[in-house]
Amino acid sequence: MAQVREQWATRAGFVLAAAGSAVGLGNIWRYPYVAYENGGGAFLIPYFFALLTAGVPILLLEYSMGHRYRGSGPLSYRRMSQKWEWLGWWQAMLAFLISTYYIVILAWAFSYTYFSIGTQWGENTEGFFNHQYLGVTDTFWNFGGLQWKVVLPLAILWGFIYLVMRRGAHGGIERLNRILIPVLIVMIILITIRGLTLEGAVDGLNVLLTPDFSALADYQVWIAAYGQVFFSLSIGFATMMTYASYLPKNSDLSNSGLIAALGNSGFEFMVALGIFGALGYLAAQSGTGVNEVVAGGIGLAFVVFPEIINQFPGLNSLFGFLFFGSLVFSGLTSIVSLLEPGIAAIRDKFDISRKFAVNAVIGGSALVSLLYATKGGINYLDLIDHFVNTYGLLIGAVAMTLFVGWFANRLNTLQNHINQVSDVRIGGWWVASLKVITPVALAAMLAANIITDYQ
Ligand code: PHE
Repeated sequence: MAQVREQWATRAGFVLAAAGSAVGLGNIWRYPYVAYENGGGAFLIPYFFALLTAGVPILLLEYSMGHRYRGSGPLSYRRMSQKWEWLGWWQAMLAFLISTYYIVILAWAFSYTYFSIGTQWGENTEGFFNHQYLGVTDTFWNFGGLQWKVVLPLAILWGFIYLVMRRGAHGGIERLNRILIPVLIVMIILITIRGLTLEGAVDGLNVLLTPDFSALADYQVWIAAYGQVFFSLSIGFATMMTYASYLPKNSDLSNSGLIAALGNSGFEFMVALGIFGALGYLAAQSGTGVNEVVAGGIGLAFVVFPEIINQFPGLNSLFGFLFFGSLVFSGLTSIVSLLEPGIAAIRDKFDISRKFAVNAVIGGSALVSLLYATKGGINYLDLIDHFVNTYGLLIGAVAMTLFVGWFANRLNTLQNHINQVSDVRIGGWWVASLKVITPVALAAMLAANIITDYQ
């Protein structure tokens, strides 16, 4: 390769970028309702199980592969075996696919941030995107045509992201994270404190935390836990491999990995407390139970939250601004990490300039993203999300553990590689877990997913 590999300026820069990738929409809108739907307080058990048997081991696997073989996904796999380069492309493609719809959710959040000033979304929060299209009025769930409330923020965000990505890993991604993460931490602390001090907050917390142990007998709850851990930690998409390939030679990997993983989970729990506190408040105001006001998925952030903000006891614009602004900030530091695996992959392969690679990847993702902004686009979004986060991800992760653990048999090499420099030494548990427990657990989930989808 003729090019000199890009590098982070400092280890702190890398840790921030890795944490910025992990902390995203997955933590703020996804975790709270996934935990709620899957056993409440009892969900913590499969969650920690998934974190220990797959999350942390695979995170360290990606770090060590990217760092040892100094490459994006395809290049790292190729340096282990010519035959497995495809797996790197597969994982980078999944990241690219996520970027195409992740940006749309980000665009909604951006739009809502603006409209939170003076709660301009009005009383009927489900009708925010209401819009006459071919004589039919659409709701949030089925909004029509290309409308400026989505397309304008989409264009602004793409423009901004393009400028960041053009400046490279250090000048662009690292800088972005250095600025946004501290601001984000303050925003989230404020939201959590406010959420927890609202009237009725305790009822919300009870619903989030009361364990329903019978949920543990349901395999779908375990699938949900693994799914959440992969998405939230950004693993299985060649993202962490790519980021680790920009670290200087003698870098501590295990310590950084643990900081990123703990930080991500801590953040996730904290936000969930604040959000359920606020849901408890809404329930108290409307005289119903918390269970009646929780909505799954996108609806929690974009339909229920505006309603809560409408009923806020004061400073509602500020709270709305903080909530949607934190979605935008956390999402920005994640989307750059969804685009970088593809950019790095084609640069490593074709030895082209960063500018060219950024144009190609961002141009492609921007075009596809327009699709979800059109009529019924939310359905495509759902479809791609389901495909990527169940089949695509699991096929890639099973193949990855089988390849590295058995076919190429590199786990001991990688363990030594980590232990050469790291303060926190990685023991035999890591190898054992990746060789046996992780692939078995992931293959079981893949099988369970197929059965659920086709029965
Ligand atoms: N972890 C990010 C989030 O929680 C999403 C993401 C997934 C980012 C995969 C990069 C790779 O929102």
